[in-house]
Amino acid sequence: MRPFNLFTTLSTLIPIVPAQSPLHLPLTIQCHPSPNVLCINSYLSVLPYHFSRASPNSSSVVPLSTIQLPPAYNATSAALASASFLIFDATRGVEVLGAAPTYDFMFAVSNAVHEAPVYAAAVDRLFLSQLAPTGFLPQLVVDLSGETPRLEEFLSDPPVYAPNGGTFAGGLIYWAASGGNMSIGGIEQRAGVRTLDPLTNKTETLLNNYFGYYFNTVDDIVVDAKGDVWFTDPQYSWFNNLTDTPPQLTPATYRFRPSTGAVSVVEDTLTQPNGIAISPDQKTMYLSDTGADTGVIDPRFPSIHSATFNATGKRTVYKYDIVDNGTAIVNKRPIYLAQEWAPDGLKVAANGMVVTATGMGMDVLDEFGTLIVRIQTNYTVENFAWVANKKDGGRLTEVWMTGNRGIARVRWALEGQTLK
Ligand SMILES: *[C@@H]1O[C@H](CO)[C@@H](O)[C@H](O)[C@H]1NC(C)=O
Ligand SMILES: *[C@@H]1O[C@H](CO)[C@@H](O)[C@H](O)[C@H]1NC(C)=O
Ligand SMILES: *[C@@H]1O[C@H](CO)[C@@H](O)[C@H](O)[C@H]1NC(C)=O
Ligand SMILES: *[C@@H]1O[C@H](CO)[C@@H](O)[C@H](O)[C@H]1NC(C)=O
Ligand SMILES: *[C@@H]1O[C@H](CO)[C@@H](O)[C@H](O)[C@H]1NC(C)=O
Ligand SMILES: *[C@@H]1O[C@H](CO)[C@@H](O)[C@H](O)[C@H]1NC(C)=O
Ligand SMILES: *[C@@H]1O[C@H](CO)[C@@H](O)[C@H](O)[C@H]1NC(C)=O
Ligand SMILES: *[C@@H]1O[C@H](CO)[C@@H](O)[C@H](O)[C@H]1NC(C)=O
Repeated sequence: MRPFNLFTTLSTLIPIVPAQSPLHLPLTIQCHPSPNVLCINSYLSVLPYHFSRASPNSSSVVPLSTIQLPPAYNATSAALASASFLIFDATRGVEVLGAAPTYDFMFAVSNAVHEAPVYAAAVDRLFLSQLAPTGFLPQLVVDLSGETPRLEEFLSDPPVYAPNGGTFAGGLIYWAASGGNMSIGGIEQRAGVRTLDPLTNKTETLLNNYFGYYFNTVDDIVVDAKGDVWFTDPQYSWFNNLTDTPPQLTPATYRFRPSTGAVSVVEDTLTQPNGIAISPDQKTMYLSDTGADTGVIDPRFPSIHSATFNATGKRTVYKYDIVDNGTAIVNKRPIYLAQEWAPDGLKVAANGMVVTATGMGMDVLDEFGTLIVRIQTNYTVENFAWVANKKDGGRLTEVWMTGNRGIARVRWALEGQTLK
């Protein structure tokens, strides 16, 4: 008698399971009535072989639709490319988008970085900047008061060199002024914190140095409920030729108290700290690290001003607890690795969800970093701001996204925090 072979016996009983489980097919499903919305099944957690996705680089941001799939999935790739909204979490995604989300490409602009969008309700205008190394002035403003939004040029008094981020507090726009040289409209300016009064167009300098050193690139900025100003200071102004001096300080994040003038470093572990945001309850801070996009700093070669994208570098959103009577941040933990490009502008919605501009679009995350919704654009988005939605009784359910070659508008159900 042949010896009993457990293996052959079992293998005749257990059917061969195909390598590709049908569990997650199809890749996309119907979960919203709008034709502009596509719902992703199970986060694409099992893709059919052979699939691959190219890494982003300095000239290509590789949207989700660029994943190479087997030919039978051509229709899926086409649907991924054409939808303005991708839902990853059906229940919460539908809540974020509402019943009839709209996406409108509003203005074609230059290929320069378009940054620092800030809404001033008192004048119903959205202020923004264009960061071309030459011709950074005038700034731009979208007048939202009429029937049709109008894009206009704007010059403050005095002008602010290269705002790279902005926010609104105490009736004033706070600019993260990122550049510096000897002759901005005839005057010297250095990276720092400036305010603009939208009612008078006058600007003031609140901060322009750290004990005599120039900041590198005051990049993005948030003001907490006590009036303290928190900002990131990466090195992009050297890479982008927006400052005439190489960095003197380590990339870091600071807290600045305008009432005393004191500046304190709060974080110095990120490669290139960039976006910054605070939760509505003031308990949590979010910072993004765009260290994947970095360049050479060598004062001996002042003609080398560029950044190269390295996909294996940092492109991560971090979460921190705010402690010590609102003065420090601890418990750094990564919550989101951007699936497209790197997380640039970062803001927290009124309901605590975290929104970040990543590549050609924006990602909406829950407070723990789970992707809920992606907005897809046809241009690289750097930053965004909520404005009053006239189609929704003036609630902050309208978002404007600014970037290279484009400014677009989304109307959905996700409300912004009211900044006063
Ligand atoms: C960047 O990525 C695109 C898309 O994958 C590719 O076609 C291109 O060759 C890459 N460029 C460089 C410089 O690696
Ligand atoms: C899918 O697209 C590829 C390349 O564009 C093409 O060769 C193939 O025939 C298409 N397959 C189907 C099933 O449409
Ligand atoms: C300073 O920057 C402005 C704006 O980019 C530019 O017009 C000017 O030439 C620069 N001046 C110097 C000395 O680099
Ligand atoms: C501020 O500038 C705008 C042009 O962008 C102008 O319409 C407005 O009258 C100015 N306000 C004041 C007080 O000068
Ligand atoms: C950097 O900017 C200065 C002043 O605007 C300009 O003279 C210089 O040519 C620029 N350098 C590079 C490498 O673009
Ligand atoms: C890209 O980044 C990784 C991780 O930071 C580093 O090890 C690698 O050397 C970088 N590659 C290039 C070409 O800079
Ligand atoms: C905590 O912060 C508040 C507001 O800035 C301040 O009034 C208070 O003195 C601080 N408490 C301590 C112990 O420093
Ligand atoms: C984006 O699409 C709009 C139309 O929806 C078009 O006018 C614009 O030129 C496109 N922009 C880019 C950069 O492709």
